[in-house]
Amino acid sequence: MPSDPAIVRQPEPQLDPRIPAHVGVIMDGNGRWAQARGKPRTEGHIEGVNALRRMVELCIRYGVAHLTVFSFSSENWTRPKDEINFIFSLLRRFVASDLQKLIAHNVRVRIIGSRQGLEDSLRRLIDDVEAKTAHNTGLNLHVAFNYGGKAEITEAVRHIAGEVAAGRLRPADITEGTIERALYTCGIPDPDVIIRTSGEQRVSNFLLWQGAYSELVFVDENWPDFDEETFLRVLDEYALRERRFGGVEVARR
Ligand code: IPE
Ligand code: IPE
Ligand code: MG
Repeated sequence: MPSDPAIVRQPEPQLDPRIPAHVGVIMDGNGRWAQARGKPRTEGHIEGVNALRRMVELCIRYGVAHLTVFSFSSENWTRPKDEINFIFSLLRRFVASDLQKLIAHNVRVRIIGSRQGLEDSLRRLIDDVEAKTAHNTGLNLHVAFNYGGKAEITEAVRHIAGEVAAGRLRPADITEGTIERALYTCGIPDPDVIIRTSGEQRVSNFLLWQGAYSELVFVDENWPDFDEETFLRVLDEYALRERRFGGVEVARR
């Protein structure tokens, strides 16, 4: 019997087992989508936001409980300053233009990622959108922004080490649950499936801890082309997967 409550925690039940409770998306290929059309990369990011709107609607319609989208990674700071500024301004515009609609659709928004290095006005915006949607009970939309799995685990370790140094925690009492509670995703079930668009087949530092048993589905479409047809293909693929979680029986969650 596992002694750690983190291991035995049950995910939220879904009515249709074909529908994952938690979908993670590495929204990749915006730049290539634009380049293929002779447009600047920024156009791809704009269309990427439209694809995100579509995805939110699809998740609501199909009864997905949690959607986590990777929108800016810790490593994306290495991009040209102009592109970074553009992506940041898109986030601001997305929140400004879509907040009322998200509230009307009962969506709860959380931003996961490091708040360090973000401008004060952006931090306030993040706090505001989280506070205004905190009581919503529909789709949980987690936006991974300024997010990196290694940075997240590093922050968690620093926090836990601080607790130990202060004498509030004994090293022997550190469990998987202790670590989970120190992650940005505290209280959020692990993703059942992680989708990556654009044909790339890597994780790129997304949900390293949480994705330990996620099914990975790679699709060739660039993110701006992701639509209902692609989503249904992913669901079909997910339905075929046998999830064993290290055991021998077929488990579905
Ligand atoms: C994903 O698209 C969006 C971000 C990483 C911010 P990309 O901008 O990575 O597009 P490609 O991969 O260069 O085509
Ligand atoms: C991953 O895409 C990050 C996001 C989608 C936000 P990247 O385009 O940054 O990943 P790599 O560099 O191809 O691995
Ligand atoms: Mg990319």
